[in-house]
Amino acid sequence: MIDPFGRRITYLRVSVTDRCDFRCTYCMAEDMTFLSKRDLLSLEELDRLTTVFVEKGVRKLRLTGGEPLVRKNIMHLVRQISRHLVSGALDELTITTNGSQLAKHAAELVDCGVKRINVSIDTLDPAKFRTITRWGNLDQVMAGLDAAQAAGLKVKLNAVALKGFNEHELPELMRWAHGRGMDLTVIETMPMGEIDAERTDQYLPLSQLRSDLERQFTLTDIPFKTGGPARYVEVAETGGRLGFITPMTHNFCESCNRVRLTCTGTLYMCLGQEDAADLRSPMRASEGNELLSQAVDEAITRKPKGHDFIIDRTTRRPAVSRHMSVTGG
Ligand code: GTP
Ligand code: 5AD
Ligand code: SF4
Repeated sequence: MIDPFGRRITYLRVSVTDRCDFRCTYCMAEDMTFLSKRDLLSLEELDRLTTVFVEKGVRKLRLTGGEPLVRKNIMHLVRQISRHLVSGALDELTITTNGSQLAKHAAELVDCGVKRINVSIDTLDPAKFRTITRWGNLDQVMAGLDAAQAAGLKVKLNAVALKGFNEHELPELMRWAHGRGMDLTVIETMPMGEIDAERTDQYLPLSQLRSDLERQFTLTDIPFKTGGPARYVEVAETGGRLGFITPMTHNFCESCNRVRLTCTGTLYMCLGQEDAADLRSPMRASEGNELLSQAVDEAITRKPKGHDFIIDRTTRRPAVSRHMSVTGG
């Protein structure tokens, strides 16, 4: 799959549910309404769709949500998809999770061939963690991290950088992550979906964080590549890696290799655009995959050049009205 700008699509992110057991304030409103069960694709349908993408050249597949591990019987899907690792058609099967259910699933993830996972932690302070997730329990997530590392999973932490919330804590979070052998990526908040908070007040450009860090640490750009959007530095003092995900200050769309599938069978060609393709109808229209395959090809011809995220002080409206949890970031 090659898009009109010559970019090869090799990375599929699959949001297996829009539900989450947390409500991170930058992600969702407290009274979010979720899809009803009857609107969800079955796990078999998700497997059928992802298989078509693997046949078309996807080499990296990430399950996201909402929170992927709250989807009922999710390990059944992981197990099914893992056959593409065994056959060599897929290089990597991975997951982005809030960690709350990780203790239960870490060993089985490893058994299915998952080698590395990304876990979202924005603060190490239990009270602040509760505030940002609205009711999340940091101990539960820590138990998940312990289980993941004990099972042999490589863990990367994700932290959304938020002004006035965790900006001064990020150096400590980095030290802590590196001390445990985990990479950390920091992320600029993206204006997606109506939330209760005011994004203009929360937005922290990472160029500012980088200069702050450079007063305390020696950062060296490194060509470490995961296929994701982060640009990595190595931190001399900790020996660990720190990634910057900068959709607002330093657009990375020219090297985009990914598309996103939702749990209703909608394909978004870009996180920061509304245009999407319905894959559920062509999939359900026949038992064979021909119509589906054509629909995917057509969708790829519509992949836009990039996103238009701006954090607009005048309208204060999100650039994209759907929530991050629809596409899993
Ligand atoms: P690695 O495989 O470890 O590189 O992970 P990843 O960065 O691809 O995935 P992860 O789920 O950890 O996402 C981290 C952040 O990157 C999330 O906030 C995503 O929304 C964001 N992200 C991933 N891809 C894109 C993209 O194409 N555009 C934008 N704007 N953000 C993205
Ligand atoms: N902007 C940036 N990152 C976000 N995430 C969720 N909502 C947003 C947002 N509005 C992050 C989560 C998770 C990843 C998938 O996306 O913290 O780590
Ligand atoms: Fe849930 Fe992740 Fe959104 Fe937090 S960022 S509410 S953990 S989907």
